[in-house]
Amino acid sequence: MTYDDQDYLRRDPLIERVLISSDDLAKRCCQMGNELSRDYDGSVPILVCILKGAYVFLADLTRCLSIDHEVDFMAVSSYEGGTQSTGVVKIIKDLRVNITDRDVVIVEDIVDSGLTLSYLIDMLGTRSPRSIRVCALLDKVSARRKDVPIDYRGFEIPKEFVVGYGLDYDEKYRNLPFIGVLKQ
Ligand code: IMP
Ligand code: MG
Repeated sequence: MTYDDQDYLRRDPLIERVLISSDDLAKRCCQMGNELSRDYDGSVPILVCILKGAYVFLADLTRCLSIDHEVDFMAVSSYEGGTQSTGVVKIIKDLRVNITDRDVVIVEDIVDSGLTLSYLIDMLGTRSPRSIRVCALLDKVSARRKDVPIDYRGFEIPKEFVVGYGLDYDEKYRNLPFIGVLKQ
């Protein structure tokens, strides 16, 4: 853990602990960037960042890419049915680029139930891309309700609510440089 992480932790009584330090995030991000650069050598993939949570990850990931690529953004929200996600996703902001015959990489912050991602893969698939793969920083695998393929996975994490590095609780904590666990 870096000094910065410790400092943040001391300042905020609602963060229980650091789950993934900023050093570990930086290292893993660059490993994933290198993997993508190798796998997409010769192609110009479109990285589709799912807003809002994935914006920090996308920014760090793309700075570790050594291949030409494009970025575009989508914003989605899940319709909630009671306390559980229904899997019906509303598109708040759609892509600007045409993905027909293009290699698409969906960049997600976290895969929880898998319902959002599953919907997105199906929806983008109807636009006839050449390929669709998923690059997710965090995988809460034990919370999965719908099986989804994750081609590039940063970290597998336990079923706890995490914040920081783009992820929020009530729009707060996105700016934390580490992934932290909130006090229950
Ligand atoms: P899913 O459809 O259940 O996989 O939900 C995925 C979305 O829920 C993510 O893109 C996040 O926006 C949000 N989410 C799930 N778990 C967490 C968490 O632990 N912290 C913050 N956001 C989360
Ligand atoms: Mg998200």
